[in-house]
Amino acid sequence: MSDVAKISFGDKEIECPVVVGSEGEQGIVISKLRAETNLITVDNGFANTASSSSAITFLNGEKGILRYRGIAIEELTQQSSFIEVAYLLVYGELPTKTQLDKWESDIKQHTLIKEKMVKFFDAFPQDAHPMGVLSSASSALSTFYQELLDPKDEEAVDLAIIKMIAKLPTIAACAYKTSIDQPRVYPRNDLSYCANFFNMMFSVPSETLEIPDVVVEALNLLLILHADHEQNCSTSTVRLIGSTQANLFASISGGISALWGPLHGGANQAVMDMLTSIQADGGDVSKFVLKAKDKSSGVRLMGFGHRVYKNFDPRATILKGVCDKLLAQLGITNPLLNIARELEAAALSDEYFVKRKLYPNVDFYSGIIYSALNIPVNMFTVMFALGRLPGWISHWKELNETPTTRIGRPRQIYTGHNSRPYVPIDQRG
Ligand code: ACO
Repeated sequence: MSDVAKISFGDKEIECPVVVGSEGEQGIVISKLRAETNLITVDNGFANTASSSSAITFLNGEKGILRYRGIAIEELTQQSSFIEVAYLLVYGELPTKTQLDKWESDIKQHTLIKEKMVKFFDAFPQDAHPMGVLSSASSALSTFYQELLDPKDEEAVDLAIIKMIAKLPTIAACAYKTSIDQPRVYPRNDLSYCANFFNMMFSVPSETLEIPDVVVEALNLLLILHADHEQNCSTSTVRLIGSTQANLFASISGGISALWGPLHGGANQAVMDMLTSIQADGGDVSKFVLKAKDKSSGVRLMGFGHRVYKNFDPRATILKGVCDKLLAQLGITNPLLNIARELEAAALSDEYFVKRKLYPNVDFYSGIIYSALNIPVNMFTVMFALGRLPGWISHWKELNETPTTRIGRPRQIYTGHNSRPYVPIDQRG
């Protein structure tokens, strides 16, 4: 195996080292390319570009493998808790019992948000999308914890991490309660992370809420499945912001905004909208598949396709199984699930989708599960953000701990006007 790649152009040839990752993937290091040849590389959507080395998450899109810190997602969803997975991602190892107890208790100590901050929620329009509120509130945390903003201060970073993980569910639930004009519910530290979130979302001061174990378990699993996915768009956004040495709260706020888009985390909401519109249109999935194949329609089969997974998305496989079980346990029949199944079957046997290796992704089934858990559709992407938070944090931390980190600053191929004079306004045609 060669450890050098040669790039030749005109009469120039340069040798570029080839780095090999711990799972054998190889990358050509082109950092001297511009200095030695005056050339740059062009890579639409960064599909062939490693922005960094990372020891957090491994995924193999061809084989459908996803591992956090070396541990398979299938094992983690069966045996771990979201809070434990968060520790694993952020600190690199599974915690001991003492470490886990401390981590959980530290997080519980910080679930409240400042009363001044609670007032923010009233200032947003009643129908504000909760992702906009979540991103704003996350950035606003930086104004309340100004002593925790230095990414090089290890102690401050550890506390900022705890505050971020502790407060995001409180913020999310506050945004929801405000949007439905119900009293905001304070966190309860006698409950687990997931149960506390449900309590803040669905309890009212006049009643005690019973939260079935099966519901808590489903949320725990969903959050684990979303916890990290290496250099996806929102994580790359967090890393890019973090590369300027911006604080954790501001960097996470950027990640939340990136996640919102329908081609990324917003797809779970888009899938439900799609299934609902197919149902309203008489439930004919073949009609929709035809539309999704027609490029001029501007319609895509939401929840299908992935930049990296070209075989199957292991998260979707797990969720498909959970979906059936959960709905049966909760005694829910959701006609949208049948439409989803029919749509999946139609697409998987269709030449267009097969040829392009388009398979259901994590968002295809997550919306149906969120609905079964009574989560409103406009909160779906917020749920994704709660899950992805430890991933964003661990990448931000890794980046700040890597001595060779440079500010992210891509190049461009300029295609605009060449130099031309300024024309005074009275002389413009
Ligand atoms: N429906 C119909 N056609 C599709 C779809 C789809 N969902 N996804 C890709 N294609 C087609 C493209 O039109 C393109 O066709 P062409 O080769 O004839 O031009 C081909 O498949 C390749 O698609 P790209 O857009 O180049 O793939 P890319 O890797 O850039 O995009 C993405 C991946 C954004 C996920 C895309 O598949 C998509 O838009 N899916 C729907 C949205 C979605 O579910 N997003 C969630 C992703 S998972 C996550 O973020 C957690």
